[in-house]
Amino acid sequence: MAQASSPDPRSPLRALLRRMPKAELHLHIEGSLEPELIFRLAARNGVTLPYASVDALRAAYAFTDLQSFLDLYYAGASVLLQEQDFFDMAWAYFERAAADNVVRAELFFDPQTHTERGVPIEAVIGGLADACARAHAEFGIESALILCFLRHLSEDEAFATLEAALPHRAHFIGVGLDSSERGHPPEKFARVFARAGELGLHRVAHAGEEGPAAYIETALDLLQVQRIDHGVRCTESPALVQRLARTRVPLTVCPLSNVRLCVYPDLAAHPLPALLDAGLCVTINSDDPAYFGGYVVQNYLELFDAHPALTVQHARQLAANSFEASFASASRKACWLRELDAVVARMTA
Ligand code: ADE
Ligand code: ZN
Repeated sequence: MAQASSPDPRSPLRALLRRMPKAELHLHIEGSLEPELIFRLAARNGVTLPYASVDALRAAYAFTDLQSFLDLYYAGASVLLQEQDFFDMAWAYFERAAADNVVRAELFFDPQTHTERGVPIEAVIGGLADACARAHAEFGIESALILCFLRHLSEDEAFATLEAALPHRAHFIGVGLDSSERGHPPEKFARVFARAGELGLHRVAHAGEEGPAAYIETALDLLQVQRIDHGVRCTESPALVQRLARTRVPLTVCPLSNVRLCVYPDLAAHPLPALLDAGLCVTINSDDPAYFGGYVVQNYLELFDAHPALTVQHARQLAANSFEASFASASRKACWLRELDAVVARMTA
């Protein structure tokens, strides 16, 4: 007689990871462009792609480091020309986010990737802001936009981008710093981040993804950032790990991204569980989900699969951290924490 297979003891935990409300705080909206949408927008806009098919494009997603990814990421973004394209891209993300029970999303966007191709900044921000409004109306997802400066460009270009965006100030809550990290330390952008602070904008920066732990310290000290994006290389400095634990400056960590970009050989080697146990406010995010093999729940699931010591309490703490680390109001955070605890109680009863 065929043996009935025994139930997977981890499946209640996997269900909780899917079902629990969570915030996503490190998501490049241009990195959510799936190959199918890239091809659809290319056809709509008359853009010729150097790939014959969706499969051929996807087959090129074999990255060796951050730069090898960025080269493809900027090529993919070249199909975005009209306001409607930015709306469609963000709407596709929100549909995925809703399925993952994301209740708050803070989206990075890279205006310089588009304005340098002649796309008006109002088309970029207008399309994204419309999708954010519709996501709230249809899914109840609260969202906000964070304008990122490309760190391989100059600080003067970052200043010009900030100025150009100011007429749309109501549609973004902060500034960030992304693109090629090595050789472009945070201090290169100290003055423009100071200006953003004067304008009342939140400040975040990628640091310690490929760059050294020292970049995390200079992002904190010279850019006065409120969160560090990635930050995983803090593990190279015990004093910095202690500082991050004490201050609870959040790290928005992206496990699948770190493996796809060869920061770690596999998820079993990823330091997130150790950082969580050390008391840091680490969060789980998807970075560029169309390129790295999954959206936010996939990041939770694969990380938990690779670390059998992670429990329901770790899952709850990660979701709670995502709310603590968000730029939402204290009352919204309290409300999501109550929802989280209700879901945890119901699913573990
Ligand atoms: N832009 C999009 N994804 C990025 C990443 N992981 N690091 C730096 N810049 C990025
Ligand atoms: Zn990123």
